[in-house]
Amino acid sequence: MKLLVVGNGGREHALVWKLAQSPRVQALYCAPGNPGIAELAECVPIASNDLEGLKRFAQEQRIDLTVVGPEEPLTQGIVDAFQAEGLAIFGPNQQSAQLEGSKAFAKSIMAQFSIPTAAYADFTDLDAAKRYVHQQGAPIVIKADGLAAGKGVTVAETVEEAEQALEDAMSHQVFGESGSRVVIEECLRGEEMTVLAFVDGETVRPMVPSQDHKPIFDGDLGPNTGGMGAYSPVPHLESVLPVITETILQPLASGLAQAGMPYRGVLYAGLMITAEGPKVIEFNVRFGDPEAQVILPRLQSDLVDIFLAVLNGSLATTPITWHPDASVCVIAAAPGYPGPPTKGLPITLTAPPEGASQLFHAGTRLQEGQLVTNGGRVFGVTAQGPGLEEARSTAYVAMERVQFKGKQFRKDIAAK
Ligand code: AMP
Ligand code: GLY
Repeated sequence: MKLLVVGNGGREHALVWKLAQSPRVQALYCAPGNPGIAELAECVPIASNDLEGLKRFAQEQRIDLTVVGPEEPLTQGIVDAFQAEGLAIFGPNQQSAQLEGSKAFAKSIMAQFSIPTAAYADFTDLDAAKRYVHQQGAPIVIKADGLAAGKGVTVAETVEEAEQALEDAMSHQVFGESGSRVVIEECLRGEEMTVLAFVDGETVRPMVPSQDHKPIFDGDLGPNTGGMGAYSPVPHLESVLPVITETILQPLASGLAQAGMPYRGVLYAGLMITAEGPKVIEFNVRFGDPEAQVILPRLQSDLVDIFLAVLNGSLATTPITWHPDASVCVIAAAPGYPGPPTKGLPITLTAPPEGASQLFHAGTRLQEGQLVTNGGRVFGVTAQGPGLEEARSTAYVAMERVQFKGKQFRKDIAAK
């Protein structure tokens, strides 16, 4: 088979790395890819939001299956566009992708299918939003409605902070159009966990759970990022997995199917494990990044078989097995991140350490033969071991192979 992966981050490198292991794959392309991906796949210079360009490439090259990494092309309707031409593509269609693309849509779907989540209201009027905040009091959570690269959320500890967040989003438009509508939510307390699942319209097959670390600094301090590291399994939360499937994942899939909008692809549930049980913080419509970088190395089955089963509706009978070893990913970020990162810094790489590890490229670029930084998250350094402690220590040894000026990384990934 000929496969095309869309995207250029650490998640896409992990996808390409896993897909390249499939005996079914004869040719592997990535658009646009990055220098790490280029070691495993042929990179083609088409942007991941250039739907026309991607479609033309898939037609010309007779691609048998396209796999979409990031959310943007999904919310733009890449799946609908490919399907209209009879091209096989893995991911939810534009309507389903609204689960991530519009928080207000996600909230209304959850209300419709009685899926546990924070109480909320949504607003397009600043004064009405402020009145609601005064009624509810703090702590309270303010979210820009649309896509904001993981940065559109303020957990406000005071009413003043909440008002400031509303003004930033709605008057000063710091998230652009995404913030003209806001969702205001009850603040949930508990521990966060991520569960990703393959969904073929009806059948839900959860992947092994993982936990992300969003704040930039150790001890969960500082502003939120796209994710500074992840680990899997999550032993102290594993026991709630059946409850999550029963009360969240399956009701969502069945509800959507009954409503005539079956969900096909990867469903990402960001959850808070509260005293009352697991509640949804957000849905994403794709693999998480860095979650994919710890989960995919644990997958023993052929990922192409799973993707095809999702497209054929045969997920219920497809074997999916996971390696018992733990997996830990630590992100090496550029100076400046999560603000504007410094690009063009030369990178040096040394040989990998003993033990299983992968170096997934995220924001890297080749400049006249020299590897340089090209984004906020530069690498995902991932390692496996018989337990989290071993995986963690190998990942931190492997982190030393990556050197560039001002490298930032958290020292406490998987330390809980
Ligand atoms: P999101 O972009 O929706 O994943 O939100 C980013 C982060 O904000 C989450 O990972 C949580 O740490 C926090 N958060 C979002 N919603 C809530 C909520 N209702 N209660 C408490 N924390 C939240
Ligand atoms: N790691 C969070 C995300 O992929 O949205």
